[in-house]
Amino acid sequence: MDRIIIRGGTPLKGRIPVSGAKNAALPILAAAILSDEPLRLTNVPDLADIHSMLRLLQILGVEARHVAGEPGSMEMRCTDVLSTVAPYELVRKMRASVLVLGPLLAREHEARVSLPGGCAIGTRPIDLHLSGLERMGARIELAEGYVQASAGDGLAGAEIRLAVPSVGATENLMMAASLARGETVIENAAREPEIVDLATCLRAMGALIEGAGGERIVIEGRDRLHAGAHAIMPDRIEAGTYAMAAAATGGDVVLGGMHRDLFGAAGASLEKAGVRLEDAPGGMRASRANGLHGTDVMTQPFPGFATDLQAQFMALMCVADGASMITETIFENRFMHVPELMRMGANITVQGSSALVRGVDRLKAAPVMATDLRASVSLVIAALAAEGRTELNRIYHLDRGYERLERKLADVGADIERIA
Ligand code: EPZ
Repeated sequence: MDRIIIRGGTPLKGRIPVSGAKNAALPILAAAILSDEPLRLTNVPDLADIHSMLRLLQILGVEARHVAGEPGSMEMRCTDVLSTVAPYELVRKMRASVLVLGPLLAREHEARVSLPGGCAIGTRPIDLHLSGLERMGARIELAEGYVQASAGDGLAGAEIRLAVPSVGATENLMMAASLARGETVIENAAREPEIVDLATCLRAMGALIEGAGGERIVIEGRDRLHAGAHAIMPDRIEAGTYAMAAAATGGDVVLGGMHRDLFGAAGASLEKAGVRLEDAPGGMRASRANGLHGTDVMTQPFPGFATDLQAQFMALMCVADGASMITETIFENRFMHVPELMRMGANITVQGSSALVRGVDRLKAAPVMATDLRASVSLVIAALAAEGRTELNRIYHLDRGYERLERKLADVGADIERIA
């Protein structure tokens, strides 16, 4: 089990290149199933979750060829679908595997996908994915922990209203609708930038999609999609994470490739908390303004404060002046970083889905354990700001979502090393 050792106290200074967005790349890789012609992608991040998705896609018949000499560039091609089964042993490792369901149904009119099961942060059902596909004519059965879906002679467009603006359901349904007969309307669609990125890629492949990024998306189905090319958008969660690390250490960094509108409401909350965000050549500059101030946030679907930035924000508020009320409304169990932060001297009280954080002068190093992807990186932020030498265990979670984390942080002055 790899560990990371961080000696805190050094202000981060310099340029951090922001990688391609994990949560845009995952659905876009699945979209390769929709066509038998090549899909050329650039800026694909080198992450464990991406490797998992490529392994699953290979079993289904999608070939992925890395372009020599161009890291992050690859050509995907699904000449023929070889299998329509996404097995449990792969899906349980990476729940985003469920994003192959819509594309398989659209192209092959059948799919057998393991139910993803819950994960550390919550039960995470997929009922909205399934009810939307049923409205498009799919027959769905749940048996032995699998979704068995079939669509006879193909899906038909439908009017679908999502009970909650689910990112995954919006993505699955948008991909399914691209090859359905007729028009599909998705009401109360998720508005995350990753939805827009997927729609942009699908349109490059010939899909007819209007309204992505808003709450009403209209898709006119096509008989087939053709070759396309797309550059994955920058990862706003990675960028937000490093912006908070810079502020927590009293540093000043440029986030290469990032632009302000990708932050949504989180940008305003970060600024209120004392993170200065300025546009800079080729990216955004993040630094600590005059002190860190306790700030209340409530996570919401985009453009609200991203749930994927909540744990990181809590770490930052642990060393702010005053108190912060942090409320998690998206997932039911996303405070697992709290006990680990408290081991480092944080003063946090959890009441249901809210955590009251009272700022302390300094956190103290302590051996801590990562539990899920974003909780892990909140401990990295805390360790960078803390006094002393922190040892982080179970850091494989980090490799799922942060490309070359220790390299990127060391390059801006962090005293960090990884021990195999
Ligand atoms: C995506 O997960 C992201 N993952 C998550 O990032 C992110 O936290 C989440 O969106 C919210 O922004 C990927 O994009 C791969 P949802 P997803 O469907 O699609 C409920 C990370 O750290 N819901 O928008 O699974 C669900 O329980 C990961 O990178 C249903 O009830 O999220 C949750 O409460 C973690 N029924 C809420 O909606 C459904 O059918 C939002 O879930 C689907 C969802």
